[in-house]
Amino acid sequence: MKNLKNMRLGIISALQEEQQGLVEAMQGPSTLIHGMRDYALGHIAGIDAVCVLSRIGKVAAATTATMLVEKFGVTHIVFTGVAGAGDVGVKVGDIVVGESLVQYDMDARPLFPRFEIPLTGLSHFPSDLHLSERLANAAELFLDQDFNTAIDAGERMAFRLQQPRMHRGLIASGDQFIGSREHLGQLNAALPGLLAVEMEGAAVAQVCFELGVPFAVIRSISDNANENAATDFMRFVKSVAARYAFHIIRRFCAELRSEF
Ligand code: ADE
Repeated sequence: MKNLKNMRLGIISALQEEQQGLVEAMQGPSTLIHGMRDYALGHIAGIDAVCVLSRIGKVAAATTATMLVEKFGVTHIVFTGVAGAGDVGVKVGDIVVGESLVQYDMDARPLFPRFEIPLTGLSHFPSDLHLSERLANAAELFLDQDFNTAIDAGERMAFRLQQPRMHRGLIASGDQFIGSREHLGQLNAALPGLLAVEMEGAAVAQVCFELGVPFAVIRSISDNANENAATDFMRFVKSVAARYAFHIIRRFCAELRSEF
């Protein structure tokens, strides 16, 4: 990847619980408040980084991504957080790295095809291959080497996390928390290959596409986007999500640093 030496990495999560520990692990952090968000500037494993919480939803995420690029000069963006499973083969505790991202609630028919973002010609925004490969590697290493110590036995039992797996594929975002089998079934029918549903990734993808900034999205699966989703989501986010993000992002930054 070109210009890695001059890289400044923006790291976005929607909620505090999805990023806890990362800011504390930064070297020399300073905080700047802008537009109701705290931007933490510092280094993670030698990578110049800016961590920020977007809050929930596509507008909040798009605003945050724009600020990171325009005000904080980030050159690359990673979104890390949780998602609902979008496929029966994806389980709670698994990890999904987005190969492409779609806004499932964009529908400007009959003016444009369903899901297409008007005047971009695109419905599915591809993530940056290099960043995604590095994230996928970091996730695999986390699952192989850190998982059993990072997540204690009680939690592994409680969440029935046996051998979590890493998947790569389609992530769909929209301004709704998916909590019904019926709704998920409709999305599955319309979006073949769907692996995860969440509320921010594809908005960041659109901003990054428009500004020419490489981006990637990684999600740990907190729930099955069914009738139990809200309960499962809260439990996972409270006790597990931060540890996934912390270990994976630290490994990811260390890998990027080794490419300098
Ligand atoms: N994030 C985590 N779980 C989700 C769900 N079921 N729907 C939307 N976003 C989510």
